[in-house]
Amino acid sequence: MNPQVEQVEWSESYSMRIKKIDDQHKGLLKIVNDLYSHSTGDERAERMYFMEVIGQAVQYIKEHFATEERIMIATKFPGYQEHKKAHDEFTMTVVQSLNDFKAGKQLVLVKFAHFLKDWVLTHIAVMDVQYAAYFRQIATRKANGKLSITKEDIELQG
Ligand SMILES: [Fe+2]
Ligand SMILES: [Fe+2]
Repeated sequence: MNPQVEQVEWSESYSMRIKKIDDQHKGLLKIVNDLYSHSTGDERAERMYFMEVIGQAVQYIKEHFATEERIMIATKFPGYQEHKKAHDEFTMTVVQSLNDFKAGKQLVLVKFAHFLKDWVLTHIAVMDVQYAAYFRQIATRKANGKLSITKEDIELQG
């Protein structure tokens, strides 16, 4: 199998039109692509790579979730509880798999890459789009035509 075939490319259709969030989503897809490019089928090498990068990947995912959750709270997004629950469940699943692999469970890197890719793309398409639409509703259009959420935008919601 050629892991390059699996590379996922950023598409404008994934854009939340919020730069910080888009940058973080691109970062998540980069993690997925790095996992794919190290999916050689050589289990020893895959395991070494996985153990080397997974801690930082989990940290990146947690930071991304925290960014989204901060904005959702600040803007009083009505779907916050449900969204936070999805983040928490995913984090627990990843940490659990990490512990399983550490305990010696067989690691097939390409399977983990599929799992991460599917979750990230589905979560963006189903859940992240909801808060993005809400942000755009309440955000103001700046003189340069760009939307942004300022402190005033948030206080307007209060
Ligand atoms: Fe999210
Ligand atoms: Fe997200």
